[in-house]
Amino acid sequence: MCGIVGYLGRQDAAPLVLEGLARLEHRGYDSAGVAVLGRTGLKLAKQSGRVRDLADSLPKRFAGTVGIGHTRWATHGPATDANAHPHVDEAGKVAVVHNGILDNSAALRAALTDAGVTLSSDTDTEVLAHLVARSASDTLEGKVRDALAAVVGTYGLAVVHADFPDRIVVARNGSPLIIGVGDKEMFVASDLAAIVRHTTTVAMLDDGELATVTAGGFTTMRHSDLSATGKSASEVDVDASAYDAGDHESFMHKEMLEQPVTARAALRGRLDERFGTAHLGGLDMDARDLRAVRRVKILGCGSAYYVGQMGAALIEELARIPADAEAASEFRYRDPVIEPDTLYVAVSQSGETIDTLLAVQEVRRKGGRCVGLVNVVGSAIARECDGGIYLHAGPEVAVASTKALTNMFLGFALLALQLGRVRDLSIADGKRLIAGLERLPEQIAEVLAGESDLVEVAQTLAGAESLFFIGRVRGYPVAREGAQKFKEISYRHAEAYQTSELKHGPLALISPDVPTVALVPADELAERNVAALHEISARSGPLVVVTHEGVDLGEVDARRIVVPRNEPELDPILLTIPLQLLAYHAAQHLGLDIDKPRNLAKSVTVE
Ligand code: AGP
Repeated sequence: MCGIVGYLGRQDAAPLVLEGLARLEHRGYDSAGVAVLGRTGLKLAKQSGRVRDLADSLPKRFAGTVGIGHTRWATHGPATDANAHPHVDEAGKVAVVHNGILDNSAALRAALTDAGVTLSSDTDTEVLAHLVARSASDTLEGKVRDALAAVVGTYGLAVVHADFPDRIVVARNGSPLIIGVGDKEMFVASDLAAIVRHTTTVAMLDDGELATVTAGGFTTMRHSDLSATGKSASEVDVDASAYDAGDHESFMHKEMLEQPVTARAALRGRLDERFGTAHLGGLDMDARDLRAVRRVKILGCGSAYYVGQMGAALIEELARIPADAEAASEFRYRDPVIEPDTLYVAVSQSGETIDTLLAVQEVRRKGGRCVGLVNVVGSAIARECDGGIYLHAGPEVAVASTKALTNMFLGFALLALQLGRVRDLSIADGKRLIAGLERLPEQIAEVLAGESDLVEVAQTLAGAESLFFIGRVRGYPVAREGAQKFKEISYRHAEAYQTSELKHGPLALISPDVPTVALVPADELAERNVAALHEISARSGPLVVVTHEGVDLGEVDARRIVVPRNEPELDPILLTIPLQLLAYHAAQHLGLDIDKPRNLAKSVTVE
């Protein structure tokens, strides 16, 4: 969602801030703004719309070597020019950019209005600019401390003040804030993607920290009392090209094609062929802890929830422990019973999804053990968990998750293997699954190599206003994920159903205008699945069937997409890959902005 970028140094700040903001566009936003401190004080430009529109309309005199900028995803108030960040005080000396939500902003706005302050936006953030301006402290750090003492909520923020033109003050509580160290220049950002081309020497603020950033360096402190925390910067191991689409038309395409490589990275060093098990040191659970687990509850949102359902099936099959997945966004609202012998698993690419983070906090508040399956190292969910498995998918930029999702599945397979091998899963079965996991990257590459064969069928599906995705047992979460991908980027109504449920209702909708994408792996349910295809075919419903070699579809008139077979427990991920390609090529055929689908954000950091 929202993004923050700041710069101090010898160069003109605005172009660097705008470049950084453009790098954060994928997170989702609807307005953008920038403020710089120059010789004549604070200058501000902000408007609804794209970063490039802001860049085009920047006033001629907009020079300054200190600057902060923001991309806003509307929460409090619509996406208007006035509501765009930065927000300034009445005198036009203080500018603030903020990610997160201030829970007591209504009361603070009322108090400021009573005190005679004229507010010029509908946002929660604006109160911060006024509170900073009204503080009696004689340092900017003190003014920010005073403002933060009055607010309740989450924030990553950056503040500049015309009376303190050599610095940016940043602070964090629940929303990421990174400081980047350059050569006599400094950067701040909410996401490494914004600054990685300039520096990979960074410090990440912790919750409760504030920092003063000047062109020469930075100092960190607690924002409650400004006592030093002494944080220093370190080198992060990240390849800047991971944030470039390169020769691909979109990040989603690049990320889909990276899957064979990223899948290998998820497995590297974690498979123990000798004992037919997995090693997951980050879980911080020994064999006794693993054996004590009586139930597994997986918590995630959207695609992470659907892959969680695939993971639950894997765990139940391999470890014979009851396991299920639940939408993290609903979890805390039903006052869940937290059981001491249940292992809770939070799954998230970004590690920032607020609903998943709050679910983790609910588990831990009630004494439960929660581990994370997270892609972004050091992210909020990773830190909040008791231990975890990093996904090693590399940065995922496209809103539609592909390579991270595949690695989530692999993470669950490793966890299931480890939980299984301290119980009744035989060494022979453990070795069988390891051999299957080792084959997977090649098989994923094989499916991706068939991309061109899927273009036409994707284009046909794009012509439908509404379509079904169906599957059974292992195939049902695959159907849910396939429908999710399709609707996210093609804006077509795509609905997932259990194949077995068709005739209990949705069959009424089957017609020549409503195609069905059916998952029919070569498993014990294949015959039942084919019977359902006949029912669809008899009602002239167009069919696309993702299946294995050797599955007899009989007389059914269907477009077949054949994927390689692996061990049955691991098949779901191979069935998922063609559904990514179908969604991608449907959206491309419709001429849509694949990496930035309307209304969606890469990291959903607000409730
Ligand atoms: C995936 O394609 C979606 N963009 C979305 O459902 C996503 O999986 C969900 O918002 C959870 O995100 P997370 O993995 O970063 O927690």
